[in-house]
Amino acid sequence: MSTQFPNNFLWGGAIAANQVEGAYQKGGKGLSTSDCTPNGLFGDIIDRNKHNITSIKDNAIDFYHRYPEDIALFAEMGFTCLRTSIAWTRIFPNGDEEQPNEAGLAFYDKLFDEMAKHNIKPLVTLSHYEMPYYLVTQYGGWGNRKVIEFFTHYAKTVFERYKNKVKYWLTFNEINMSLHEPFTGVGLDRNSTKQQIYQAIHHQLVASSRAVKLCHDIIPDAKIGNMLLGAVAYPLTPKPEDVWAAHNENHGWLFFGDVQVRGYYPTYMNRFFKEHNIKLEITEQDKHDLKETVDFVSFSYYMSCCATSDESQKTKGNILDMVPNPYLKASEWGWQIDPIGIRYLLNLLYERYQKPLFIVENGLGAKDKLEADGTINDDYRINYMNDHLVQIREAINDGVEVMGYTSWGPIDLISASKAEVTKRYGFIYVDLNQDGTGTINRYKKKSFYWYQSVISSKGENLKA
Ligand code: BG6
Repeated sequence: MSTQFPNNFLWGGAIAANQVEGAYQKGGKGLSTSDCTPNGLFGDIIDRNKHNITSIKDNAIDFYHRYPEDIALFAEMGFTCLRTSIAWTRIFPNGDEEQPNEAGLAFYDKLFDEMAKHNIKPLVTLSHYEMPYYLVTQYGGWGNRKVIEFFTHYAKTVFERYKNKVKYWLTFNEINMSLHEPFTGVGLDRNSTKQQIYQAIHHQLVASSRAVKLCHDIIPDAKIGNMLLGAVAYPLTPKPEDVWAAHNENHGWLFFGDVQVRGYYPTYMNRFFKEHNIKLEITEQDKHDLKETVDFVSFSYYMSCCATSDESQKTKGNILDMVPNPYLKASEWGWQIDPIGIRYLLNLLYERYQKPLFIVENGLGAKDKLEADGTINDDYRINYMNDHLVQIREAINDGVEVMGYTSWGPIDLISASKAEVTKRYGFIYVDLNQDGTGTINRYKKKSFYWYQSVISSKGENLKA
């Protein structure tokens, strides 16, 4: 079996505009839903037009100004790919304008040019956990069909502008997240009914397929994928009821992939909709649009979970309700660490879809200590990533086609769930404290040199 990753494997890291850029009101940017969840996507929703408050996300790690330095550091590690997102509100501050905001477009031009200087290929998410807040207050978010048009206008604008610079695209980050946090996912109130949430999701799925079509037409040599939160569930016990519970749990998120890869709703959803009294408005045009399917499937993977028919065992996790797996240890944030789960997930998705796969998020959120001599000894992160990469290599040897790996937060950033900066994922430490103090200077962690050697050896030096 090969001990090296393929020569054309894309190595890198993944960030998102609202978690790194800061400059939340610079360059004509409008308010986004992320700006209105200043304490993270599970925190309060605050209308910042009405309330004068601040958030650590407002300046974040100031990537907006410091990107040349950061990209040079990524290049030093050997990155061939960087996943980032475009903030929709930099391009269309309110979301419903006809003309784009030139300052926003110019910013991403400079960013992509900087990556090109270092031979780093951009992988760009059109919408990573944010949309113009104006579309929420004035139109009711994705609950309104009109938002499909606004999104496709935005997608068309950026495809046309960056067609020579960006050849890898993703539509919506963790599109299945809307089931757990509808405000961030589809701009809906948290008390929305299942009917409202699934209708909004339907609009987003249609928008995704229309963006795929536009990308294929405007940039024929580009590839565009979907992005799933790969929360693979195991049965808690071999009890048939638990096996069935896991099957259902997995259908909950695979539904999104099934639509985006196959181009139509899977039949198992008919029963689900019936039992939950959900009646979707799906037009003939929608059905036609959905047929334009993605070129590859991307996903995030941090942990696996368990499913059981016994409701009393469920506990509230960070994003999902989780049933702890008794065989696994957890991170400081309670996320259970399961490297074999990524091999299992890669095999599952490949068998289901026969599409190339891209791991676009994976990593360990942990507290790091900056030593007096400027070093950070993050062996725990090295161990986590080593073990996951070993399993990815196994999956490739199993025959799974994997395009690349972009670890989450290669530079410390603001965490999404609770806007914490103490939850660090990076190979690069950022001197920033939760109260906003700190120099925001960058320091290389021990994992920086480790990842550099993994990339240069094409994974040969991973410890199996
Ligand atoms: C994914 C998101 O859910 O997980 C990222 O796409 C997020 O935006 C990442 O940052 C890790 O979650 P958290 O809450 O630790 O930042």
